[in-house]
This record gives sequence, structure tokens and C-alpha cells, in this order.
Amino acid sequence: MTSENEAILNDEISTSIGAGVGVADGVQPDGGAGTATQASAKAASDVPAVKATGVHKAFGGLHVLKGIDMTVEPGTVTVILGPSGSGKSTFLRLINQLETITAGSIEINGELIGFKHVNKGGRDVLQTLNDREIGRQRAELGMVFQRFNLFPHRTALQNVMEAPVHVAKTPKAKARAEAMAQLERVGMADRANYYPMQLSGGQQQRVAIARALAMHPKIMLFDEPTSALDPELVGEVLGVMRTLADAGMTMIVVTHEIGFAREVADQVVFMDGGVVVERGSSSIIDHPAEPRFQDFLSNVL
Ligand SMILES: Nc1ncnc2c1ncn2[C@@H]1O[C@H](COP(=O)(O)OP(=O)(O)OP(=O)(O)O)[C@@H](O)[C@H]1O
Ligand SMILES: [Mg+2]
Repeated sequence: MTSENEAILNDEISTSIGAGVGVADGVQPDGGAGTATQASAKAASDVPAVKATGVHKAFGGLHVLKGIDMTVEPGTVTVILGPSGSGKSTFLRLINQLETITAGSIEINGELIGFKHVNKGGRDVLQTLNDREIGRQRAELGMVFQRFNLFPHRTALQNVMEAPVHVAKTPKAKARAEAMAQLERVGMADRANYYPMQLSGGQQQRVAIARALAMHPKIMLFDEPTSALDPELVGEVLGVMRTLADAGMTMIVVTHEIGFAREVADQVVFMDGGVVVERGSSSIIDHPAEPRFQDFLSNVL
């Protein structure tokens, strides 16, 4: 074991998290089969971009996610549908390590997130990653929220350059050129020097997408990216997302835009009450099997 490992051995947790049968916060997960080792996952050439196994999340006594299994293949689009409070945002936040998992495991490109296996006195134990390691894992992901959260006192260009310059330490001239290329990609190059308040909601959201892309994520997570927009502005944002999907970006999209799901999704997942109720190709939207999914669709269509 390296001295670095020893230095961070302060937060060791039960091995059961990686095995998908962990217990924390009084949660009793209903099992899970996440026992594939990191080594074997990495060796495979067709490693999923995201592999969630038996994922549970509880906030105190509130058990929000109750054993989510989900596999997202590289270069595909997964759309998550579900009623308010079903745990969709919580699931995305776990993937992006904005929340800590209660039990189960999530692998990104074959790598367990949030934890690593270490050998401690001949025992395989899981240890939480330190901030630097978590930062490295999170750099694989770009996230776009319902509210665009651009810095109000920075121009579109400055917003997109912010993380490359200050986090990735990219030289300014290079970061500027790359940021302009990302703004071009979302059709916002001609507004590079506008401040957020001078942009429509749809334009701000496109800048927010460019900002996420500027860090070259391998996977993009979208949490209801159009639900705060006026209806006439939804199309331009969905159009940018469609272009990204066509370019082969791996995407997980929480949305109520059924048309987008039908046209773009390789996989549709319907969640309710913290579990996956139905999943399949986009054809399940027109032929839902589960009554709960049927009800949901009849309310949103
Ligand atoms: N930080 C938190 N602390 C306590 N409870 C939380 C927290 N975050 C979410 N919850 C609860 O978890 C449940 C699921 O919330 P979540 O935001 O994941 O739902 P959602 O499916 O995204 O809903 P919506 O469609 O309204 O965005 C809700 O009951 C919510 O109140
Ligand atoms: Mg949500």
C-alpha cells in the first residue's frame, strides 16, 4: 500500500457497498448483483459508460432510491421519465457524486465511483476517495440543470472559459479559442460577449451546455434542461441536445419532453417511487406495459 493510501485510510467503509448489499442509514436493500470486480470490468472492451447496481439512497429516514439498476452503453442516449419525487434528480446527483450513495454501486467507464478497493491487512476493503480523486472522476461528466446558473457578471464566453482556465489550468488564449468553438457548436458564437441577462432562457441554457462541454466530458447528464423555458424556446435547446446525440455523446436525460425521448432515446427508463418500473427502447412510449407508466404517459402526452 502506498503512503498516499494510508493517509486517506480514515474513512473506510463496509465492503458491502461495492457488492450492492450495503446497509447504511437503516436501509435494508433488497440485494443486488454488483459483484463484478474492477479488474474484470476494465479488461472488457465493451465497458458500459455507466453501470448502476442496486443503488439505494436515503435522506435520513426517507428512502428515496430503492435499488436502481441501470446500464448506459457508450454513445447512447438514455431518457429517464417519471413523476415528481420519483428520485430522478437524486439518481443523476449520485452519478455526479453530488450526493453520496447509501448502498449499491455505480461504475463510470468501468471504474467504481466514490470508493476504491484497498488491501488492508490481507482484507479487501472499500475506502472513500479523497477530494482530488473524486474531482478526477467528476471531470468525466458534464451536467446541465433546469436552471442555467451562469455567472451573471461574466459574458457567455467568460462563463464557458471559467472552468478550463481555473480548474483545468488551460492557458487563456487556448481556452478562449476552445470556448468559442463550443459556443459555435451550440449556435451561440455570435452572442459570445453578451451577459446572461441579455440572453433568452434558451440561449442561456445553450451557453450552459457549451460550458459543460468545455471540460470535454465523456458523459453528459441533463436534469430537466428545458422545463424552466418558455415553450417557444424549448426546441432550440432540444435541437442542440439532438446534435450532441448525433455526434455520439453518451447522455442521460431527465425530461418530460416525450417527443424528444421518442426520437432520440436509445433507452427509456420509467421510474416511480424510487424503483425502475419499466425500461426498454423508445417504442415502450407508444406501447407501455405497466399501468403506472400508462397513467404517467396519459398525463404528460
Ligand atoms: N437533499 C435532500 N434531503 C432530503 N430529501 C431530499 C433531498 N433531495 C431530494 N430529497 C427527496 O427525495 C425525493 C426525490 O427527489 P428528487 O428530486 O430526486 O425527485 P425527482 O424525481 O427529480 O422529482 P422532480 O420531477 O420534481 O424533479 C423527494 O421526496 C425529495 O423531497
Ligand atoms: Mg428532479
